[in-house]
Amino acid sequence: MLPIHFAPLQGHTDDVYRRIHHQLIGGIERYYTPFVRVEAGEIRSKDRRDIDPKNNTGVPVTPQIIFKSVKEFLFLVEEVETLGYRAIDLNMGCPFPLQARHGRGSGILAQTDIVNDIVAIIKERPQLTFSVKMRLGWQDAAEWVPIVEMLNDTPLAHITLHPRTGTQGYKGAIDHDAFARFYEACCHPVFYNGDLTTLKQLHEMEESYPRLAGLMVGRGLLARPSLAKEYVEEREWSHEEHIRTLRTLHARLAEEYGGIVKGDTQLHGKLRTYWEYTEPIIGHKPYKKIMKSGNLRNYMNAIEELR
Ligand SMILES: Cc1cc2nc3c(=O)[nH]c(=O)nc-3n(C[C@H](O)[C@H](O)[C@H](O)COP(=O)(O)O)c2cc1C
Repeated sequence: MLPIHFAPLQGHTDDVYRRIHHQLIGGIERYYTPFVRVEAGEIRSKDRRDIDPKNNTGVPVTPQIIFKSVKEFLFLVEEVETLGYRAIDLNMGCPFPLQARHGRGSGILAQTDIVNDIVAIIKERPQLTFSVKMRLGWQDAAEWVPIVEMLNDTPLAHITLHPRTGTQGYKGAIDHDAFARFYEACCHPVFYNGDLTTLKQLHEMEESYPRLAGLMVGRGLLARPSLAKEYVEEREWSHEEHIRTLRTLHARLAEEYGGIVKGDTQLHGKLRTYWEYTEPIIGHKPYKKIMKSGNLRNYMNAIEELR
């Protein structure tokens, strides 16, 4: 059985979601914060809240940072270390053009000189444990080749690979052959990430790659929050259990966000995103009803009708 890590998903897996998921469901070895970045020389207050240890008590969480330069990298590492964290995940995979075009996320993969400077700093910080989450490249699916050579020579806990390029975003074919080449070339423990939504797929990955260190799942867990728990329990839950789990988790989120988000319109907007990837589980009609609910009251009625 492989450890399952919950992928960071900006706008979804914030501190509230991670805490409630961990308390109610579990099955996850490690959660990651959505990427923390520098904006106007500072960390945004929303991100500060998310990584604040007070808001992550009892949850196994690693903060993730995104950066385009040694300066940003050092600033973020020092801020995160000051909060008491000793493990940091490095985002070298984000495809959002606003980040990647500025050389952050997958945009850093083509900048071997900057990665080279960053690995030199990592080597000077043995008190910290770094991990990397990356793609095959930004535009070119072979960019990972020189990067992995540099990373092989750097102390890292593990590397998670999402085998797409940045320009592919989250759609398009996963490049399984490239993943297999990466798996052979990488000297660090490797985690696979991408399009895992069923227990069968988790087992197939386990069998296909005997040296795999673990699996990272994102949208599959948003749709089916019990996926990792089912894998650990070795029991496939029924449709009724999936719906009940989604509703219970949602009720707790509604309660918590109700105390944070001001006004029905904002609360409706915040909660609605929770259902974005659930169509394969809840079905097309209920999904449309939630998405088109228009206001908090219709929305709550649509949730009430879920079976
Ligand atoms: C809405 C959204 C937000 C994301 N935010 C982050 C992020 O902050 N950091 C990161 O490393 N990846 C982020 N990702 C990528 C996911 O962590 C993951 O790599 C991707 O969704 C593929 O895995 P999956 O098919 O299991 O969802 C995001 C993806 C989506 C769809």
